Amino acid sequence: MNRPVVVITGTTQGIGQVCALELAQAGRTVLMLVRNVAAGVLLQRDIEARVAGADVRVIECDLASLASVREAARHVKHEVSHIDCLINNAGIVSMQRRASVDGFELTFATNHLGPFLLTECLRGQIGVGGRIINVASRVHRKGRVDLDQVRADAPGTWRPGAAYARSKLANVLHTFALARRMAGTGVRVNCLHPGVVSTHLLPAWLRLVKPIISPEIIDAVAGARTTMYLALSDAGAELHGTYLDEHQAVVPASALAQDEALQEALWAASMRWAGLR
Ligand SMILES: NC(=O)c1ccc[n+]([C@@H]2O[C@H](COP(=O)([O-])OP(=O)(O)OC[C@H]3O[C@@H](n4cnc5c(N)ncnc54)[C@H](OP(=O)(O)O)[C@@H]3O)[C@@H](O)[C@H]2O)c1
Repeated sequence: MNRPVVVITGTTQGIGQVCALELAQAGRTVLMLVRNVAAGVLLQRDIEARVAGADVRVIECDLASLASVREAARHVKHEVSHIDCLINNAGIVSMQRRASVDGFELTFATNHLGPFLLTECLRGQIGVGGRIINVASRVHRKGRVDLDQVRADAPGTWRPGAAYARSKLANVLHTFALARRMAGTGVRVNCLHPGVVSTHLLPAWLRLVKPIISPEIIDAVAGARTTMYLALSDAGAELHGTYLDEHQAVVPASALAQDEALQEALWAASMRWAGLR
């Protein structure tokens, strides 16, 4: 059977887990790129038990390792000859200043640099009608991209919230720069804020207080809606180079995210950091 193929990262928990199930229910072949393969296989079995004839596959991918991302992309190309949709969903908030194996600040490496490399490795497989979706956040509005601050050993203070906001701004900058490059190819590139979602993204203590701080907190099923809208709906196929809120409305991203010079500076630096020409 010739099913549309979706590659999605970070399906072992939260929003990605819901997306994987809903994509399988929608008849997609789902390639789940996960760092925890045992958890990925458990989810694969669960989806196969719930969705008759599901085609769900697990591929190891640690987005915080450039070598792992390259290997995962090779694996994807071995599994499928084309991709209809790539969803860069996985993300973290590191509560400590940590380094990726490649020496980058861990939140930036996981949330931006790994997905950037994955997208560059795979976008040649995505043809007319294809979709690339980056799960960003409204927190990008608080972000600043200082290109000197992405190395783990960069001087100066480091805060988890600022590092996360920087990585999410990078997601939006990446989306807009990529959309420009994909214009006229028939591939749609968009990003979104999923809502304030009750998932494992935040440490347990913060999840406890978050409903008090954020009355609009939603569950992972509702949190998956905007991603699924961009991945599956006809309306989603019409959008290109946009940022959507949790109600599937196109809204302006921050002024900084729309700064073309910054988009291009991040693109050039990401190419260099990822070892791409
Ligand atoms: N929750 C919110 O309120 C919220 C708001 C705005 C945006 N977002 C964005 O939504 C996306 C999904 O987050 P979520 O809330 O569903 O979080 P989550 O429940 O913590 O799930 C995150 C997923 O990312 C995976 N992941 C983490 N580090 C990885 C790595 N190095 N390599 C590969 N996979 C990795 C996790 O895998 P493991 O099981 O191995 O940890 C997990 O499957 C993220 O991009 C996040 O920034 C979330």
